[in-house]
Amino acid sequence: MQNAFNSFAAEIIPLIDGIIKDFYDRKIKNADRPFMKEIYADIASYCLRKGKRLRPILLLASYEGYKKGKKARNEMALPAAALEMMHSFLLIQDDIIDKSDTRRGEKAMHIITGRYAPLTYNKNIGADVAVIAADVLFSNALELTAAADICNRARRRFLSVFAETYEMTAWGQILDILNSKAKAISPEENIPLDISLMKTAYYTVCYPLLMGNVLATTGPISEKKAIEKFAIPLGLAFQIRDDILGVFGSEEETGKPSDSDINEGKYTLLIRNTIERLQGKKRDDFTQKFLSLKKSKTDAAGIRSAIVSSGGLDFTKEKQASLIDEALAAIGGLAMSQSSRKILEGLAVLLRL
Ligand code: IPE
Ligand code: IPE
Ligand code: MG
Ligand code: MG
Repeated sequence: MQNAFNSFAAEIIPLIDGIIKDFYDRKIKNADRPFMKEIYADIASYCLRKGKRLRPILLLASYEGYKKGKKARNEMALPAAALEMMHSFLLIQDDIIDKSDTRRGEKAMHIITGRYAPLTYNKNIGADVAVIAADVLFSNALELTAAADICNRARRRFLSVFAETYEMTAWGQILDILNSKAKAISPEENIPLDISLMKTAYYTVCYPLLMGNVLATTGPISEKKAIEKFAIPLGLAFQIRDDILGVFGSEEETGKPSDSDINEGKYTLLIRNTIERLQGKKRDDFTQKFLSLKKSKTDAAGIRSAIVSSGGLDFTKEKQASLIDEALAAIGGLAMSQSSRKILEGLAVLLRL
């Protein structure tokens, strides 16, 4: 049987990509300076690379699931496409911060804009341009939202959740930065769980569903709790899966550099669970190796094998699986149509490792 998420995605992805393509075709045509045309073209092709388009899909599945009567999929696709542009905005910044040179199997934006290097003595020009290209995306996402033919009340409700979404993500990214390449780590507090929640779960699953709900309804927002009950565990499972694949997945599979999380000393749940399971000298050795700034291929391999032999990997996989179970169990509590519930269930199943 076809997975309901995949079937819905196959309808939505061309719609979202069409909006983004048309938007940037117009921008490129109307830009009056060559460097602007170049950067718009970079942004367009970056956004249109193969990706899951998860956030727009969730917004639309939620909107259609909560909307009574006639649905305006094409209009709602504009704010949905804005979420995909915001995702690209976040990824461009994230790759600069994480020193990742590849994204979705191609060059990261700051590597692309590194083509301006011959123009100046600025060694950092690629990142300098890319960080501002990300700002362009942010503005463009707002422009697209402003262009949608939706009533003012719905737009106000949407923009209020939108603002909350990306402020939350920003705090999550800052918390991630404050705990990466750390001088010391202690597994007592579960900081990686907070990081995953704030930097990923909200903007990836929770808020897109809430946005669909506020666009579809007019009364008080009564579904927030029910949405969180599903979306928080699923969003956490999504990030934990990404963390596991970031360490054990191949570059072909993830489209991202495979040693990057280890080299950047990313304090993920996987690392925390490993440290928690190691005692005495083994714990000190692992922590010291993990926190050291320069890691060879052999060091990275040693870190990977300790994650496995400590039981950290299995424990984290079990945690991920139980979060998916928790999300699946919460679907019945959502007051949305049966077909949208099936889409969410399909996604949860696809996120199993
Ligand atoms: C990657 O997001 C960043 C995280 C929040 C882990 P996705 O895994 O949704 O990336 P694409 O859009 O499919 O490439
Ligand atoms: C994901 O960050 C969250 C955001 C981009 C906001 P990560 O650094 O964990 O994601 P990947 O692994 O680079 O996609
Ligand atoms: Mg990253
Ligand atoms: Mg990151």
